[in-house]
Amino acid sequence: MCGIIGYIGDQASAPIIIKGLKRLEYRGYDSAGIAVLKDGGLQLIRREGKLSNLEAALNLKEMTATLGIGHTRWATHGAPSEVNAHPHLDCTQKIAVVHNGIIENFHQLRHELSGRGHDLRSQTDTEVIAHLIEEAFTGDLYQAVKDALTHIEGSFALAVISSDSPDMLVGARKDSPLIIGVSPKAFFVASDIPAILDYTREIVLLENGEIARLSPQGYLIEQLDGTPVSRKSMTIDWDISAAEKGGFEDFMLKEIHEQPAAVRETLRGRIDENGRVGRVGLDDLGLDDDELRSLKKITIVACGTSLHAGMLAKQVIERWARLPVEVDCSSEFRYRDPILDEGTLVVAITQSGETADTLAGVRIAAELGAKVLAVTNVVGSTITRESDGVLYTFAGPEIGVAATKTLMAQMTALNLFGLLLAQARGRSNHEFAATVAELQRIPEKIASILENTAVLEDWAKTYHQVTDLLFLGRGFSYPMAMEGALKLKEISYIHAEGYPAGEMKHGPIALINPGLPIVVLAPKDSVYEKIVSNIHEAKARGATILAIATVGDKDILSQVEGVFYIPETLETLTPLLSVVPMQLLAYYIAKLRDCNVDQPRNLAKSVTVE
Ligand code: G6P
Repeated sequence: MCGIIGYIGDQASAPIIIKGLKRLEYRGYDSAGIAVLKDGGLQLIRREGKLSNLEAALNLKEMTATLGIGHTRWATHGAPSEVNAHPHLDCTQKIAVVHNGIIENFHQLRHELSGRGHDLRSQTDTEVIAHLIEEAFTGDLYQAVKDALTHIEGSFALAVISSDSPDMLVGARKDSPLIIGVSPKAFFVASDIPAILDYTREIVLLENGEIARLSPQGYLIEQLDGTPVSRKSMTIDWDISAAEKGGFEDFMLKEIHEQPAAVRETLRGRIDENGRVGRVGLDDLGLDDDELRSLKKITIVACGTSLHAGMLAKQVIERWARLPVEVDCSSEFRYRDPILDEGTLVVAITQSGETADTLAGVRIAAELGAKVLAVTNVVGSTITRESDGVLYTFAGPEIGVAATKTLMAQMTALNLFGLLLAQARGRSNHEFAATVAELQRIPEKIASILENTAVLEDWAKTYHQVTDLLFLGRGFSYPMAMEGALKLKEISYIHAEGYPAGEMKHGPIALINPGLPIVVLAPKDSVYEKIVSNIHEAKARGATILAIATVGDKDILSQVEGVFYIPETLETLTPLLSVVPMQLLAYYIAKLRDCNVDQPRNLAKSVTVE
């Protein structure tokens, strides 16, 4: 996820672009850049780090050009650095491109472009677009962008300018958002509405596969195949803060809704044409098939929500690859004198890549000769520099302190890793193909859950004043019971416990008072009958059972107080669906208790001290 903006009109573009980028910083903030016209050529200024670094490098008074583009980056390909910051230029330095998205076939395109003599200066996927436009350019920038895009696979929102076309700004999109802003004497393209709300409230939404040509006088939209598009503008009446949250009340709710995209982006380019996990999108993994084959053990270290992704990964990897996996929270692992050697792979899961205890675990692993694979959402974070390989998740920046979409992306990536490991170890079977196919259906299944939340809102109304709540699950649902309890504790301050349901009778069942609400994860899986027995045990002692069950399971209705149905899926992938209602339940309860869900008390997004 990155933020892009472009301006063409009658005012100096640079201050407008910088102001717009500030409004887009929530989409990424590891580097930023701007390109404007200057003396018949382009002026390009880029800086690593926060937008303030870029701002400090500009002399806005001297930047009077009325055409320009800007970018705030959240790295996906290529570490955060000045050379990888956008805009990217072609060889002639006349064409500048800003991009949000992932070009899936960029390795191949890079190779071909280099072979044809192009000088590619960054490690990004984006730069190939500038060179493809350069090749296609015969005097008409708009046509050249259209032609270049025929070679590109993946997702993109683009803004393009050229010093040869001083009256033109081109925008295009596929699977990444882009809007056009309309005002009497100026036109804008931007990733999101807040970027331009200070200048206009008239917006045109660009649809997938559309391209727009803007001038100081007006704009024209077509489909990429040339079919004309006519679309009326709409007037936005949100304030800036609502707009930054995409119209949602809080970042957490917005990020819960971004989970289908988090899965899609994390899968992008990683499934080959045979429906297997391919290595193309896993080029930072740092482990070849021989190394994956020779592993004797995996040790997972992580904290908080990432630890729950790790608990799930243990089950997934053991099931697919038949390799023993242990899981430890990083703060325990680092002091327990772990047994590791060259046959062990330590998988360190951390969305931020900066959690102190997890980094300490990585250093211990390296000292003991184990290889380390980092699973992280932040390109260029400390853990990526200290590990042998990286498995990136592509959730985009997460602002809400309570992790939601980053967990979803971790679970997706770790499922892919389990399958890759199994493939390398020669364990492929027909279930693998079904799993890969089903992973691709998960985004639409999550979306269907998000459209249907009335039951959860009712539960929140009924139970938001309780003092205790339990979450129970078994098998693949056990880590999600832990996560359900953690989410509720974090943002609503209600005491909650997640427990393996079969363990209840060894102690916690004594806690059950009449009326104690228990959320039970009861999907139709291999332990369904067992969890139903656990429901009966709890009910017999007066508990109120709220079940998360598989659609079509009518039998459970008579046994519980309430049911929230999730779509049918494979047992291994159920957590990617069942976690969503628990996130929402925690969210609705916290809101009814007037809690600040984005910044809960006593917590920090990234804990960089021990
Ligand atoms: C903090 C956050 C949690 C997060 C944990 C691990 O405690 O509040 O939401 O799960 O850190 O963070 P990481 O960045 O390592 O995944």
